[in-house]
Amino acid sequence: MAIDLRGKTALVTGASSGIGAAFARQLAAAGADLVIAARREAELEALAATLRASHGVTVEVIAIDLGQPGAGAALFARTEGAGRPIDVVINNAGFGEHRHFVDQDWARVAQQLQLNVVTLTELTHQFARAMAGRGRGHILNVASIGAYTPSPTYATYSAGKAYVRDFTEAVAYELAPRGVRLCSLCPGLTITEFHQVAGQTLPGWMRRFAAMSADRCAGIGLRALFGWRRNVVTGVSNKLGMWTLRFVPRRMMVWIAARSMGQPRLPAKT
Ligand SMILES: NC(=O)c1ccc[n+]([C@@H]2O[C@H](COP(=O)([O-])OP(=O)(O)OC[C@H]3O[C@@H](n4cnc5c(N)ncnc54)[C@H](OP(=O)(O)O)[C@@H]3O)[C@@H](O)[C@H]2O)c1
Repeated sequence: MAIDLRGKTALVTGASSGIGAAFARQLAAAGADLVIAARREAELEALAATLRASHGVTVEVIAIDLGQPGAGAALFARTEGAGRPIDVVINNAGFGEHRHFVDQDWARVAQQLQLNVVTLTELTHQFARAMAGRGRGHILNVASIGAYTPSPTYATYSAGKAYVRDFTEAVAYELAPRGVRLCSLCPGLTITEFHQVAGQTLPGWMRRFAAMSADRCAGIGLRALFGWRRNVVTGVSNKLGMWTLRFVPRRMMVWIAARSMGQPRLPAKT
């Protein structure tokens, strides 16, 4: 499906690496002007320079920590609120930590929930409201296949992604008659900086045979968003796996998730 976004502006959060950078590349290739946001300004500037040169689009860089309370409203104020309407929002910024819940620092847990859940909700509220006023707009919220099952060693992460998926599908239903399309994207294993940030070492076979590229993942998300879908799981094997889970008892589901996540680092006994 060819997507033509000439004359439109897209906002991508978490565009300094991985799937977010892939979204930015594909949106620019479709002709969209961009606003790209994350904390690492140098990475954003480098991507912006490449996209301006290769696609002739305008790219604004916003260096911002979206893991802070009020960050969603601040990002809205610097874009739509400053007179720059946003036609497409990709709520992609997020991180996880591969640890038992009690072994995580509370500050890190709170930052994760703020970024993956609260800021995403705040951004959706602000931008979807403006889009509903105009009667058009698209929002893609990045969840995970973790949304389909409670996942030991990623407890708050997978619970947060379940929220993202449910929330997105509900608001998509509400806003469809008002011209605003929402979709949640549930990626499976994707090769990005995610696992390094999470402190999880993936076995080589998993990286080679079970993982997808960030470009392929972003392409699936954009085709689903502009194909008016409300949720999409990336890749045939992930789709089949998530479908099969419907028939698996919940206790067994948690056991399967724990086995596939592997053993996290454990703290020394005190
Ligand atoms: N990779 C996978 O296997 C996988 C699977 C399922 C779902 N996902 C989801 O896909 C999304 C993208 O992740 P990725 O795989 O592309 O990982 P990634 O390469 O680590 O990218 C994460 C992005 O989020 C940004 N970010 C993190 N904390 C931030 C903060 N406090 N404020 C602003 N931006 C922040 C990072 O930028 P800065 O560090 O510059 O701020 C980076 O651009 C996430 O929502 C993740 O949960 C990934």
